[in-house]
Formats: sequence, C-alpha cells, structure tokens
Amino acid sequence: NQDELKRLVGEAARDEVLQLPAGAVLGVGTGSTVNCFIDAIAPHRDRFAGAVSSSNATTERLLKHGFQVLDPNAVETLPVYVDGADEIDPFGYMIKGGGGALTREKIIASMAKQFICICDSSKQVPILGHFALPVEIIPISQGVVTRELEKLGGQVSLRHAKNTRADLEQTPSEPFVTDNGAWILDVAGLKIVDPIALESQIKQIAGVITVGLFAKERAHILLVSNVSGVSKIL
Ligand code: A5P
Repeated sequence: NQDELKRLVGEAARDEVLQLPAGAVLGVGTGSTVNCFIDAIAPHRDRFAGAVSSSNATTERLLKHGFQVLDPNAVETLPVYVDGADEIDPFGYMIKGGGGALTREKIIASMAKQFICICDSSKQVPILGHFALPVEIIPISQGVVTRELEKLGGQVSLRHAKNTRADLEQTPSEPFVTDNGAWILDVAGLKIVDPIALESQIKQIAGVITVGLFAKERAHILLVSNVSGVSKIL
C-alpha cells in the first residue's frame, strides 16, 4: 500500500544521505513521504551537524527526534535537500506545495547542491499540470493575481483551511494560512509544456510570493518506489 511505498523510499533516502561525510547539514522537506525519511534517519542523527527545515511541521518532527534544527541564515553549504513532490516529470521538474510549504521548500532547495526527490510512482507524470499548481500570494493581491492566472488558462481557487469539526464540514472555512502568514491559490487545468518559462512568468506577477513549480530548483536525483522496490533515477 501507499504507506509502505513511502516507508521504502524514505529508507532509500536514508541510505543515500548516510554516504555523506559525517558532520553534514541536511536540508529537509515537508510532507508524509519526508516524515518517513525523518523517522528513518532519526537513529543516525549524531552523524549530522543538524538539519535545515522547510516548515513548522518538519521542525517539530525533527526536534521530537532530537535533531538540531539550524537557522538557514547560519548555514552556508547544504550538500543535499530531501523532499517529496506532488508531481514530477521525466526532466525532474516538479509541482510542489500540496502541503502549503512551497516557499520555504524552494528557499532551502536553492541552497542545496543536490535535490533528492522521494516519492512513489503515482507522482510520476509525462507532463505537469494534472495536480493543481499552488501559488503562494500576499492576501491583498488575491483578485489581481487570480485574473492574471486565469489569463494563462487556469481555473483558480483560493485554498481553504480544512474544517475538522463534523458540524462545520459543510460551512465555508477560513482561507488556509501558510507558515509565512500568506494565502494559496490553486490553479487547475494547466498543461505545463514549458515549466521554466511558466515558472518565471508566474513569479513576475505582483503579489506572488512563490509558485509551486520547481523548474530552476528541479530534482537531480529521483528515488521512486513501486511494488517491485525503489529505483534511483539521475
Ligand atoms: C509540501 O508543501 C509539498 O511540496 C510536499 O512535498 C508534497 O505535497 C508531497 O507530500 P506527500 O509526501 O505527503 O505526498
């Protein structure tokens, strides 16, 4: 099942980072697959000088396991960044941000020499865009950014926080608020044939903080699990 595939690929990423010289700092992404990676490296935490985290959720999990969590501003070199993806294409370009952590993920990824993407084979696609593209925005720009994204052919919706109380399930909830106090627009219906061009085009819209298209910050190594095991794709 899905959980087992996540566990397998988390362990494969552990084996990968255990090849780093002792004392390295790890860049750690966000999501349920990365959680398996964090759990897998926990027994080896003393081999690492610490970790740089991409979200409050990841920080919490790292601290719980006794990792030292470092301020990204205090770190100069990051040999690897390990993170999942919502979709990845054959070139290592990805859609990320399903969990809402795209901005910090992109920052930490940009600091790292190598991006190791970990996922199960359901995330592999020939062309990105079936998964709605997350765009983190400054709240007052919602109207104008929505109109600009619609011009690109997308159907745009503001992400809402999940109502967890059953009696509120049918009631419209508040906007989802990111770790940076910002909002997220999800853009459906894009067929992303040129991820590099679209990434810079969306990034240039005033009000956009980050687009969850990782083309410049693409994956260099993909560890992907399926029923027959884990493959490593460079
Ligand atoms: C978090 O913001 C995302 O970019 C995650 O990396 C992505 O959603 C993958 O999450 P799962 O491993 O939970 O599928």
